[in-house]
Amino acid sequence: MFQSMPLWPARASTLANDVDALYIFLIAVSALMSVLIFTTVAFFAVRYRHRKGQHAEPIEGSHALEITWSVIPFCVFMVFFAWGAKVYFSERKPPQDSAEIYTVAKQWMWKFEHMEGQREINELHVPLGRDVKMIMTSQDVIHSFYVPAFRIKQDVLPGRYTVAWFHPTRAGTYHLFCAEYCGTSHSGMVGSVIVMEPKDYEAWMGGGGSQPLSVTGELLFNQLGCATCHRKETQGRGPSLIGIYNRPVLLEDGRTVIADEDYIRESILQPAAKIVSGFKPVMPTFQGQISDEQLNALIAYVKSLSGPASPSVGKGMAAATAQP
Ligand code: CUA
Repeated sequence: MFQSMPLWPARASTLANDVDALYIFLIAVSALMSVLIFTTVAFFAVRYRHRKGQHAEPIEGSHALEITWSVIPFCVFMVFFAWGAKVYFSERKPPQDSAEIYTVAKQWMWKFEHMEGQREINELHVPLGRDVKMIMTSQDVIHSFYVPAFRIKQDVLPGRYTVAWFHPTRAGTYHLFCAEYCGTSHSGMVGSVIVMEPKDYEAWMGGGGSQPLSVTGELLFNQLGCATCHRKETQGRGPSLIGIYNRPVLLEDGRTVIADEDYIRESILQPAAKIVSGFKPVMPTFQGQISDEQLNALIAYVKSLSGPASPSVGKGMAAATAQP
């Protein structure tokens, strides 16, 4: 029966059970309260119905009763809150060594790029049993990345990055939706996430002759002339980019910021926004000159300067699935 009329989408990620358990709990408590209230209403209606010769007497109040009906719901709501917060935080914090996938949403499609360089449109292949982190931005309006089977939904915004993560637990093909109205063909902005057995994934990965995203980024870095100021060995006119990713950076105005994806992105598009301590605002802007994909490649390159020596064994999934 449940096959023909499913109550839930497939549960295909580690988050799915947590989200569903909380959801079932909410429904159960709501159902229990509804039954309790309606039974009481019916019971009181009969018990205290109007009878000839009887008169209602005013009741002055009862502290015991009032405290009881305040404290019990408070405790129940705190359970909702604590449980919800726990699920929320686990959903918001991608594990450290997740495979990273850059996502660019646009009217009306999803573009994915793996660290190994494979590009996909409206289809995303991932291996079973691996943490996957989506680093997402939009080329135009607000979209929303929604995979019901994984119980994740995250808005995708122009001009900045948002992040979502999942750990697939079942091989299969799952719906991907855009869950934010984004124009005429919003309803057509759909795709699928294909979860594959590691060895099938490996075979799929090997199919395309692509270069790692960070290598694309490095080529671009040299083409755009970034390398003339941001040097590897010697101090150039710009700060060295070696090892900066996810590290604190001291700014000229005394503030300290973390060099995350958004910081690197902003520094490329609006170089004057945050000047690194000891440097002058001499860098030209690249706003309007490079695409979101090219930005992602540059960021992947800057990140690779902080990671393992070889980009191909960095945060990609091929390297990870190759392990036993
Ligand atoms: Cu994109 Cu709706």
